[in-house]
Amino acid sequence: MIPTDDFKQVMRRWASTVNVITTRADDMIYGLTATAFSSLSAEPPLVFVCVNRKSRTHSLIEKSGIFCVNFLAPDMKHVSDRFAGRVPDEERFKDLAIRTASTGAPVLNDAIAFLDCTVHETFISGDHTIFIGLVQAGGVQKPDVAPLLYFSGKYRALGEEIA
Ligand SMILES: Cc1cc2nc3c(=O)[nH]c(=O)nc-3n(C[C@H](O)[C@H](O)[C@H](O)COP(=O)(O)O)c2cc1C
Repeated sequence: MIPTDDFKQVMRRWASTVNVITTRADDMIYGLTATAFSSLSAEPPLVFVCVNRKSRTHSLIEKSGIFCVNFLAPDMKHVSDRFAGRVPDEERFKDLAIRTASTGAPVLNDAIAFLDCTVHETFISGDHTIFIGLVQAGGVQKPDVAPLLYFSGKYRALGEEIA
């Protein structure tokens, strides 16, 4: 098996978009920053997110059975930092414009797009759970804005198109 540090070193060369995964359990809204997101199927419409089993968000998604994937815009680095735990938990949504999606999960109004999901299947693997979401609703909120990226431990903006 590859040593953990070597694995991390290779994964730093992987670029990804930055997302905030939100949920609502009872009356509590919550969420975390996640890059481990992907589309899975078109028919039915499925996506998945990989969430650390030790995170608070994990237990809330397990409880609620819903989550919303919010694709962050390049000017939302501070939002990513917040939802990655750089402010007290109760301040993650402070002063952010949100609305309620059809499942009840919060949508960040400034995200470039969102996918509102119900948990379709759950797989525990390693220290994470793969939550597969059946997409109930979604929308593009900023059609002309490219996503915030994360690469080599730093936030980035998308570069030029390769013709
Ligand atoms: C760029 C970035 C990407 C991250 N991606 C993930 C991820 O895909 N899955 C995950 O479980 N945590 C991820 N994290 C870590 C969580 O955002 C962080 O541990 C968060 O504080 C968990 O919050 P909670 O325990 O209050 O739910 C990421 C953090 C950063 C900064």
